[in-house]
Amino acid sequence: PAAVIVAIDGPSGTGKSSTSKAVAAKLGLSYLDTGAQYRAITWWMLNNGIDVADAAAVANASGKPSIESGTDPSAPTITVDGQDASGPIRTQEVTSRVSAVSAVPEVRARITELQRTIAAGAENGIVVEGRDIGTTVLPGADLKVFLTASAGARAARRSGELKGADVAATREALIKRDAADSSRKTSPLAKADDAVEVDTTELTLHQVIECVVTLIEGKQ
Ligand code: C5P
Repeated sequence: PAAVIVAIDGPSGTGKSSTSKAVAAKLGLSYLDTGAQYRAITWWMLNNGIDVADAAAVANASGKPSIESGTDPSAPTITVDGQDASGPIRTQEVTSRVSAVSAVPEVRARITELQRTIAAGAENGIVVEGRDIGTTVLPGADLKVFLTASAGARAARRSGELKGADVAATREALIKRDAADSSRKTSPLAKADDAVEVDTTELTLHQVIECVVTLIEGKQ
């Protein structure tokens, strides 16, 4: 069958990463975490003294770092100027600033181009997860999935990942980030008209994975 392209979008804490990696591994597809790319460019900005609240400064610097993503779903990697960034991009400092950086149109243009190049080169097909994959990056994807979950479920999952982080504080931070990502002018977080919406609030990860695999098989 032709290389299948799958777009998985949705807000934070809906299980996008766990689902996308597992589905890609199961079907022998590549995997791309686009949030990691926005986190990587944010990390570079912070390391290089760029004021991330200054959109013009961010735009000016947006072409400077070299960002590379490894697309093996069992061991995805992200490097910035050749340096492994997989740890530092998950810090609170980066998480709290990534929305400001990802809202800058020059940043999005640059990262979107990278994403399209990676998807075009994935000979066996790819699962790409993010916020605007179905609407903007890969509007011709074979399957678009939009994952949702209640704010409570999302915060509980994230707090679990962060090992005991305060659920209420996590919930506030998540809601704030999603509001910023949904309200920005350039390619906001949104469900594509032709995306299949899956509410994961009451589902186990295993059930969500099975659901997406079934949807993909229906397209092949
Ligand atoms: O998915 P993750 O939580 O790692 O994404 C981090 C941030 O990257 C999001 O909050 C959003 O600001 C940005 N992002 C984006 N477009 C994407 C993926 C992520 O703007 N396709």
